[in-house]
Amino acid sequence: MSSHETTAYAPLLRRIHWATAVLFIIAMLIGFYCGLQPPGTSPRRELLEVHKSLGMTLLFLSVLRLMVRAATKVPPEPSSFGALVRFAARLNHVALYLILFTMPLTGYAFSSAGGYSLKYFWTFSWPRLLTDSPQIAHAGEVAHDTLAYLVYAVVALHIAATFWHVLVMRDGTLARMWPRSGNR
Ligand code: HEM
Ligand code: HEM
Repeated sequence: MSSHETTAYAPLLRRIHWATAVLFIIAMLIGFYCGLQPPGTSPRRELLEVHKSLGMTLLFLSVLRLMVRAATKVPPEPSSFGALVRFAARLNHVALYLILFTMPLTGYAFSSAGGYSLKYFWTFSWPRLLTDSPQIAHAGEVAHDTLAYLVYAVVALHIAATFWHVLVMRDGTLARMWPRSGNR
């Protein structure tokens, strides 16, 4: 059960993971809060500007992440992982990657087709690739708001699984992703 032999994700991949974790959790909490506020009110309007900007940042960060992941060595799961844990972890990670792309894309589709603001942190505006289409805007909004439930469940499971590995299994799983791990 020693974590001595644990290999880790590439240093850049670990940094991107934690940047993603922080930005994603802030974006998710802002989205949750805004979903409870009536449209057109303050501070929902201003917070949505931050939410959309964080979401677009996460989209590009996730593209970079997959490129770094493809170019580097992914450590094999610890031998202490049984077949079921291995399967559950892979399923959870695939779901997280799908979420990292579908949330920004549905949010973008809904804002672009609906004619809503696409400003990046009060600077430039992202190009509006989808012209006014109430159907696409509605479908994007329904998808974004429905997927939000999956987001809460999958992220909660991911964090709970980390606690389980650290506190119960003590199998060095966190060290695989920890930035200051001595492993390369
Ligand atoms: C990883 C990226 C993203 C995550 C995790 C995320 C998550 C969420 C969540 C959890 C909600 C609350 C849903 C509800 O309670 O109804 C929400 C709402 C919203 N999101 Fe996102 N989002 C992301 C990216 C984006 C992007 C890129 C845009 C637009 C460019 C966007 C636009 C919106 C809007 C306008 C709402 C309010 C929807 C409503 O009130 O019906 N989101 N988002
Ligand atoms: C406090 C929050 C978080 C903790 C403690 C955490 C912890 C971890 C740990 C320990 C791993 C390595 C698992 C392994 O090697 O089997 C991991 C992997 C991963 N995490 Fe997180 N995480 C957090 C938040 C997030 C968030 C918010 C996302 C994205 C929405 C995310 C996405 C991922 C993905 C996609 C992987 C798989 C990495 C790969 O194989 O490329 N994590 N996380």
